[in-house]
Amino acid sequence: MSNDPLKLTGNGLEVDLPVMEGSVGPKVIDIRKLYAQTNMFTFDPGFTSTGSCESKITYIDGEKGELQYRGYPIEQLAKQSDYMEVCYLLLFGELPTKAERDKFVWDITHHTMVHEQLHRFFSGFRRDAHPMAIMVGVVGALAAFYHDSTEINDPHQRMVASYRMIAKIPTIAAMAYKYSVGQPFVYPSNDLSYAGNFLKMMFSVPAEEYVVNPVLEKAMDLIFILHADHEQNASTSTVRLAGSSGANPFACIAAGIACLWGPAHGGANEACLNMLSEIGTVDRIPEFVARAKDKNDSFRLMGFGHRVYKNFDPRATVMRETAHQVLTELGVDDPLFDVAMALEKIALEDEYFVAKKLYPNVDFYSGIILKAMGFPTEMFTVLFALARTSGWIAQWNEMIEDPTQKIGRPRQLFTGTPKRDYKPLDDR
Ligand code: SDX
Repeated sequence: MSNDPLKLTGNGLEVDLPVMEGSVGPKVIDIRKLYAQTNMFTFDPGFTSTGSCESKITYIDGEKGELQYRGYPIEQLAKQSDYMEVCYLLLFGELPTKAERDKFVWDITHHTMVHEQLHRFFSGFRRDAHPMAIMVGVVGALAAFYHDSTEINDPHQRMVASYRMIAKIPTIAAMAYKYSVGQPFVYPSNDLSYAGNFLKMMFSVPAEEYVVNPVLEKAMDLIFILHADHEQNASTSTVRLAGSSGANPFACIAAGIACLWGPAHGGANEACLNMLSEIGTVDRIPEFVARAKDKNDSFRLMGFGHRVYKNFDPRATVMRETAHQVLTELGVDDPLFDVAMALEKIALEDEYFVAKKLYPNVDFYSGIILKAMGFPTEMFTVLFALARTSGWIAQWNEMIEDPTQKIGRPRQLFTGTPKRDYKPLDDR
């Protein structure tokens, strides 16, 4: 669908820019011919007003606080679906029939083991290495084991690589944790659900029987659903940019993991829990809120604010309910949860946060749930990367299959020193 062109005049120029309209959301101005017509670039550091691609996977309405995977509202998927079904939906665009779902789950389940030699990778890391450092290294190295599924122009091999990535990421994540605590790696169990298998690989030990707690299994699956995809966020854009050069899918996912690690992005859940611990008690909240508002203080309230959401992050709302359920199920009376609830209330009534439309985001409550479930803080972003792998791989496939896609290569506004002649050392 298209609309009347936008007339751009000025600087002695007058150009008509085509306007494109999607199925929902803001229209876009097609500037693909702008440089040829005007000898000028657009300028948008951080891409706050730039659409990088056409996509059919995830839609966010930041003003309304809405998130949909392939058109299905996240609240409905959270209540009625499960992560395996969401992976299928993100990859193939439709909810699976029972037969399709059963085959997908069987295929994923039977690809959860990693090459035995991959175990040796871990011994090269220090035991206290951050698990995200291990994830970047080990996921990137998968390309060394699966040469067949690096043939990105073969649709079958792309799907094999996609299944392998979704299937093996929990195994690698659990191995990163086990290595850090000096416990033996736990092999996958094909009789468990995706979330249940992950919990067992994380928390079981050879010395005793491990029984998956169904409440925690459901909470884990829900956390995976909520983190699965989120349109063109920083790490997804990283995966797409890496993939645009023809890099293999394992390298692209490793690049996405590296980007997600940052505290402004996926690292915020770890940073948020550390912040709540630093605040410690409800009476210290005003001190931190004042720091967050102080222009001369780089401190920010981690877990608040979002580039797109200028309303509640719908994932945070679901996560908040889950936090109550998990803490109740485990009989955990975590003072950090009280601090989080009080901080949320204070921040939402503070004119600074109201004016800047800073609401709790997906990272605000996730850390409290994960801590209660027994995950160390350093594992929080690993869990985010585990879940986001399905979204990354779906977006990567969409990019590769897009006939208009080409290597991503932004331009710049150069403000450095114009051309000058070399000055020999004796003349300087
Ligand atoms: C994720 O993009 C995605 O979809 C990401 C994600 C996903 O699923 O992939 O949703 C996951 O990354 C969630 C966000 C997690 N990050 C945090 O919680 C870190 C804290 N939040 C901020 O760093 C910030 O809000 C960002 C990075 C999330 C968004 O930053 P923007 O869009 O670049 O906004 P900005 O930094 O320009 O802030 C706008 C204003 C600024 O004040 P002014 O310069 O206008 O005076 O709001 C202020 C900021 O100083 N501000 C905050 C704040 N966040 C923004 N002030 C205090 N505390 C905060 N958390």
